[in-house]
Amino acid sequence: MAIFVCTKDDISDLVRLDKKCFDRGEAFPRKLIENHFNSGTKIYRIEVGSFKFAAVFYMDRQVTETHVASIGVDPKFRGKGLGHVIMKRILRWKRPIVLEVRITNIPAIGLYEKYGFVKYGYLKNHYPDGSDAHKMILL
Ligand SMILES: CC(C)(COP(=O)(O)OP(=O)(O)OC[C@H]1O[C@@H](n2cnc3c(N)ncnc32)[C@H](O)[C@@H]1OP(=O)(O)O)[C@@H](O)C(=O)NCCC(=O)NCCS
Repeated sequence: MAIFVCTKDDISDLVRLDKKCFDRGEAFPRKLIENHFNSGTKIYRIEVGSFKFAAVFYMDRQVTETHVASIGVDPKFRGKGLGHVIMKRILRWKRPIVLEVRITNIPAIGLYEKYGFVKYGYLKNHYPDGSDAHKMILL
């Protein structure tokens, strides 16, 4: 298992992985991923054996905070500890670190809370399907 920084050559694979990870309209379309590259977001992929895109996470350093724009583990690789691997890498970034999570996403909220994130805000209709989100922060 190894973590690599993605390049623009990886965009098609990133689009494919997002479609597998997010099935309620919130998968990043190609244009948004291109925008992330153009605005300096660091996009990481986790390679497991011969599988180059087992997981991905998007880190966006802003003026006052670090924003985790997305985390996704391929369904085939869930429940095997990659979420923990991602969180340990995220903790290296400058704090505060913020993210948004669907209020019904119990696995993700549980993972974030294990690493010290707390809920500090609420976003109504945050997702394309109208679902709400918690804002979470690690100070
Ligand atoms: C949330 C997600 C990233 C977790 O990744 P993962 O590799 O499966 O997680 P891990 O195997 O490392 O488990 C980490 C922790 O997550 C939580 N978790 C993972 N799967 C869970 C499940 N099915 N039910 C409840 N909690 C779960 C647990 O707290 C677990 O800790 P533990 O190992 O001490 O039990 C993954 O499920 C995913 O990609 N989901 C779809 C995309 C998504 O929702 N991303 C987050 C958007 S904000």
